[in-house]
Amino acid sequence: MSGLEAPTVALVGAGAMGGALVRGWIEAVRKGGGLTLTVVEPNFDPALERALDQVGAVLNPPDPGPVDVLVLAVKPQAFADAATAARRFVGPETCVLSIMAGVPIDALSRALGADRVVRAMPNLPARIGRGVTAYAASPACRDEDRRLIAQLLEPLGAVEPIAAERLMDVVTAVSGSGPAYVFLLAEVLAVAAEQEGLDRETAMRLASRTVAGAGALMLETGDPPSTLRKQVMSPGGTTEAALDILAASDGLAPLLRRAVAAAAKRSRDLGRG
Ligand SMILES: NC(=O)c1ccc[n+]([C@@H]2O[C@H](COP(=O)([O-])OP(=O)(O)OC[C@H]3O[C@@H](n4cnc5c(N)ncnc54)[C@H](OP(=O)(O)O)[C@@H]3O)[C@@H](O)[C@H]2O)c1
Repeated sequence: MSGLEAPTVALVGAGAMGGALVRGWIEAVRKGGGLTLTVVEPNFDPALERALDQVGAVLNPPDPGPVDVLVLAVKPQAFADAATAARRFVGPETCVLSIMAGVPIDALSRALGADRVVRAMPNLPARIGRGVTAYAASPACRDEDRRLIAQLLEPLGAVEPIAAERLMDVVTAVSGSGPAYVFLLAEVLAVAAEQEGLDRETAMRLASRTVAGAGALMLETGDPPSTLRKQVMSPGGTTEAALDILAASDGLAPLLRRAVAAAAKRSRDLGRG
């Protein structure tokens, strides 16, 4: 983050996601990145509080003023409460970044009195810096806002700009909810292993290590999943016997198609509500 020209950043909510963000920013400050940090959080993790103190961050200021970027990382149901205090960080030049699931740009804009608003959707592996965060920006956002926001999101992992806010429902259904689909895959693989005769603990260790290792291999090689899948298969072999079932016309593809469509629909419905 050394390319930033000393922006002032206020974070509201330093829980799992906000904490992961701010830990990355603290590192950037330690490496000489010009960031001035303010954090509002009712229950600081003591280690995080100490680290913030060491880089001169301002914690829970009684009388905040406008900053360059206001970042909202409270739970969506806490937003109404947090908005009153958060608004005091907003001035005419403030850009707002929200990582709250399902809160539309319009609602953020109205509640905070800002027109430069970015709505981002991280996912669970962001907690260890291995997530993927997609974001959509309001039309009033400038190129430099987008650049700065993308840099600020980097501690969570990969960052993907999305062309239109309406696509955030699809993002939610794929990368937002997606880790749960993969965890379910590990669970059902373990159950199948148990039914074939392995004891429960061994089955779970094999299944979860397989899912984790396959994901890590895909990430580290950069090879497409279809290429890696073919590396496991040999003609007439065991993998092919399983894939004949999983890749059949009534296999995994139509099932995931329905699951993703259901999640995207729920996201749209919640957005309207
Ligand atoms: N976790 C995920 O996988 C995931 C994925 C995508 C998006 N998100 C979004 O990320 C956001 C944060 O989720 P999270 O898992 O990090 O939640 P979290 O761990 O509960 O963090 C939220 C933090 O905000 C604090 N807070 C509550 N009210 C506040 C207020 N008025 N002012 C300042 N801070 C306040 C909470 O303190 P208390 O604990 O004292 O309430 C908590 O420390 C959510 O909006 C969620 O939709 C999360």
